[in-house]
Amino acid sequence: MTKYNNVNQQVKNAFNKKIPNLKKYTTIFLALVIFSSLYTIYVVHYTSFSRKSIQYSGGISYETYKYGWSKCEEIKRIKPDNNNIQNRIKNPRYVPGTKNVLLKNARILDGIGGDFIGDLLLKDGIISNIVKFEDDDEKRRINVTDDTVIIDLKKKFVSPGLIDMHSHAGVDSWPFLRSTDDTNEETDPLTPFVRAKDAINPSDPAIRIISSGGVTTSLILPGSGNLMGGEGYVIKLRQVSTLSVEDMGINYGINPEEEKEWRWLKMACGENPKKVYRFQNRMPTTRLGEGWLFRKKFEEARNLFRKQNDWCDFASKLSSTNEQLNSPFPEDLQYDSLIALFRNDAKLNIHCYETFDIETMIRHSLEFNFTITAFHHALDAYRIPDVIKRANSQITIATFSDLWGGKKEAFQASTRSPKILADAGIPVAIKSDHPVTNAQYLAFEAAKAHHYGLEEKLAIASVTSVPANALGLNHRIGQITIGYDADIVVWDSHPLDLGATPLEVYIDGIPQFDTPASVLTNFTKKKNHSLERNVDKKNTDNTKERTASSVIIKNIGKVFVDEDTIIESISSLNDKNISIVVKDGLVECIGTNCTNAIDIITSNSPEVIDLNGGYILPGMIAVGTSLGLVEIDQEAITSDGFSPIIIDPNSEDRVIKAIDGLKFDSKPLNVAYKAGVLTSITAPLSLSVINGISVAFKTGSHSVIDSDGTIIEKEAALHVTIGTLVKNDHIPSVSSQIGLLRRILLNALFKSPLRNIYSKVARGLVPLAVYTHSKDEIASLINLKKQISYHGGNLQIIIIGGAEAYLLAEQLSRYNVSVVLKPSRPVPDLWTAKNVLTGSPLTNITGIEILIKHKVKIALGVERTAWTRNLAWDAGWILTNSKGTLSEKEAVALVSWNLEKFFNLNRNKLNQQGLHVGNIANFVAYDGNPFNLHTKIKLVAGGGKKDVLIDPIQD
Ligand SMILES: *[C@@H]1O[C@H](CO)[C@@H](O)[C@H](O)[C@H]1NC(C)=O
Ligand SMILES: *[C@@H]1O[C@H](CO)[C@@H](O)[C@H](O)[C@H]1NC(C)=O
Ligand SMILES: *[C@@H]1O[C@H](CO)[C@@H](O)[C@H](O)[C@H]1NC(C)=O
Ligand SMILES: *[C@@H]1O[C@H](CO)[C@@H](O)[C@H](O)[C@H]1NC(C)=O
Repeated sequence: MTKYNNVNQQVKNAFNKKIPNLKKYTTIFLALVIFSSLYTIYVVHYTSFSRKSIQYSGGISYETYKYGWSKCEEIKRIKPDNNNIQNRIKNPRYVPGTKNVLLKNARILDGIGGDFIGDLLLKDGIISNIVKFEDDDEKRRINVTDDTVIIDLKKKFVSPGLIDMHSHAGVDSWPFLRSTDDTNEETDPLTPFVRAKDAINPSDPAIRIISSGGVTTSLILPGSGNLMGGEGYVIKLRQVSTLSVEDMGINYGINPEEEKEWRWLKMACGENPKKVYRFQNRMPTTRLGEGWLFRKKFEEARNLFRKQNDWCDFASKLSSTNEQLNSPFPEDLQYDSLIALFRNDAKLNIHCYETFDIETMIRHSLEFNFTITAFHHALDAYRIPDVIKRANSQITIATFSDLWGGKKEAFQASTRSPKILADAGIPVAIKSDHPVTNAQYLAFEAAKAHHYGLEEKLAIASVTSVPANALGLNHRIGQITIGYDADIVVWDSHPLDLGATPLEVYIDGIPQFDTPASVLTNFTKKKNHSLERNVDKKNTDNTKERTASSVIIKNIGKVFVDEDTIIESISSLNDKNISIVVKDGLVECIGTNCTNAIDIITSNSPEVIDLNGGYILPGMIAVGTSLGLVEIDQEAITSDGFSPIIIDPNSEDRVIKAIDGLKFDSKPLNVAYKAGVLTSITAPLSLSVINGISVAFKTGSHSVIDSDGTIIEKEAALHVTIGTLVKNDHIPSVSSQIGLLRRILLNALFKSPLRNIYSKVARGLVPLAVYTHSKDEIASLINLKKQISYHGGNLQIIIIGGAEAYLLAEQLSRYNVSVVLKPSRPVPDLWTAKNVLTGSPLTNITGIEILIKHKVKIALGVERTAWTRNLAWDAGWILTNSKGTLSEKEAVALVSWNLEKFFNLNRNKLNQQGLHVGNIANFVAYDGNPFNLHTKIKLVAGGGKKDVLIDPIQD
């Protein structure tokens, strides 16, 4: 530092002297120029290159020089290493007046592997004291001031505030509107210079909803439409009274002399950028173009970076009056963020999926010598740990635990990838990509990674200390350690449990939801005994995936036989004596005395499965997916395609039937089948009001002409969509959509024979499934139902979607309209769903609780095809958070019998449902309670296959 200061002084002196004596020196100067030119020629021709030899002419003003020099000083400044910061005593974000909080008797999961009981003092915006219970009694007592809020948590779980290192909250605000989409500046594939912080809407309602899920810090990134998308911005999810985005920034108030102010960059490779620019018919349209554009831009930035270094080098060596700089400090705002990357002042986060895309970016980083902090999404990263380790620094994989498909680069995903990466020593973060997934449920995503094998403490770290580290913020967030920011979540259960929900969230020591102390102390989540965590459960059976034609399942804890019957073992542990025998696809015996059946089939040495008290559920039913019609959404060749537009009421013979487009043995179907979702009700894809007729079929089937019950119902329902999604030139408004529906149905009532689909719907023989969320659109449909009734018809309406249905709960109940909630935990992402209640601790009730209270007929739909496998958990989530208003059986009904009834699937006697002797086996066996995330599927029977599948691999 001093060296540069001295040089600076010398140069300053030279400038000062020169200005008054300019004329005097001109002659000398010219002589020097001539001499030096000759000297340069000499040097260039006769010696090796030497910077000292270059002569400068022209010159810059002292002000310009001084400005450039200040830039050099900033470049040369040794910046603090955040890893060395310890014992912080104040958080610059501390808000004066915030009360100190003492959380006593907390079960602390500290984010770095610790799990202990202790007391925790939040003061001055930081965690100012932690005392573990194993410490001696004297030390245990944290002295507090009189005005400290003291809360006894009675051993409730406490974690660091969660950190989401990939979010678009604030730049892609809820509810989505054309005018608030500020995610991608898609006018040029290379926009490293745009900044998320210039676009973040601090009033995005999502920010509060996300924080209600325990997330306290998010990296807000530009989207992935561009190769170089721009600069991200880390915010705390605490809304500030000033409404200032700067004030929400994590770097607010920090002293850059003491703490490094990181910047964050976003880039993207693979399918997205080339798709965006193919539409614009400009580069990149291929990965070839992507690679070139990256390298070209990196080269330009590196050249400028070098020029800057050279300028500073030269400036630092200036020592006499006869030398001067001939140009200002070289800079260009366009390259500012890239140069920050070269200077190691920015953390680079790259969206990439495929193995070769990841390798290409690593190749660029080695060619141009920059550091990659994290690959995001990176669903194929688990296949190339060795390649990832070729990078010049440790790379974090910020991935989804459970979002795959949709496009080719996301199609090969494995649920085991977080575990495989962690085993290879690669840090794994789980992130939301909000609003792609609702960041409110980030903890659930980590819980799923844990379910699929990621160790518990790594799963907690994946949403706390790992992302904190990758963001360069591991000195102040992501752990419960003295001196860290007081960002703390008090949970109602273990954060990796199904349905875990924060009771309170502290950010900078400030409680975000004003939960009363009585709740924090005395709240107990209603659980049955089998929901207890059983972390050490080891599967000692043979766990190789296999099939068997006959199977004996012993030691069953509970069987959900049909809507009216549950068989439960006597709860004494030694007396779980219920068995099921399956032979050649049929239920041979069920109950406490299957000795005979067992004797009969033992001759062909069947598999004997000890379920160890686990549950048997009916095969679940998926509604609302494209299962059987699409494999990869964005690849038309893998899809049935979209139905033609229908505008004519006399069009019954042109209504599309999904059964005609079914294709089997796809990955989405296989995944559903292995997760016990054995039936799908799939409607034709459509961009218009009349979607077509759905088919109910078995997900494990081989072809539509299989004889053994592939098709359960070829006309499950007539599906229609209401809303903006299907406005088109022919039916341009919601009112014309409802109008078309009315014309079709009335026309059918008056004229058509009973065989035609419109007529069957108008008379209630086939239900009308309507996709809509809006309370008012639902009200219009109830109106339509009344009109049809008036004319002698009988419309059986099933609302699919139904985010706002709770606002009409009473009417839905009175008019016998069923609701398939899709998604099961709705969010206010659409304008027509903007009134949803997102749940505790933000709202004290949810829509589904209101629907249950009013006895509306409800069931759960599947939000996206990739998530079909989560159906049992979706039901379990509702169950655990229903405050006792729902029984286990009713939760099971939400994903099975209720849907059977809504869609009238028992019309066909061949497909007799229920787990009874002589029926086709159609069930899923768990090694525990299916609503516990530690439970695994042991066996799947039915789904269109004769053999049962044992120990299915959930890929
Ligand atoms: C708490 O305060 C008491 C009384 O002022 C003092 O004796 C004791 O040492 C303090 N304990 C701690 C841990 O500071
Ligand atoms: C690469 O960058 C590092 C610092 O980030 C530097 O130490 C090293 O010399 C650079 N290597 C090359 C070949 O420029
Ligand atoms: C918790 O419940 C107990 C017993 O009902 C009661 O005495 C106590 O005051 C409650 N605690 C709080 C903080 O309300
Ligand atoms: C089981 O069934 C067999 C014949 O079906 C019968 O002989 C036997 O007594 C039964 N055992 C019990 C415990 O009910």
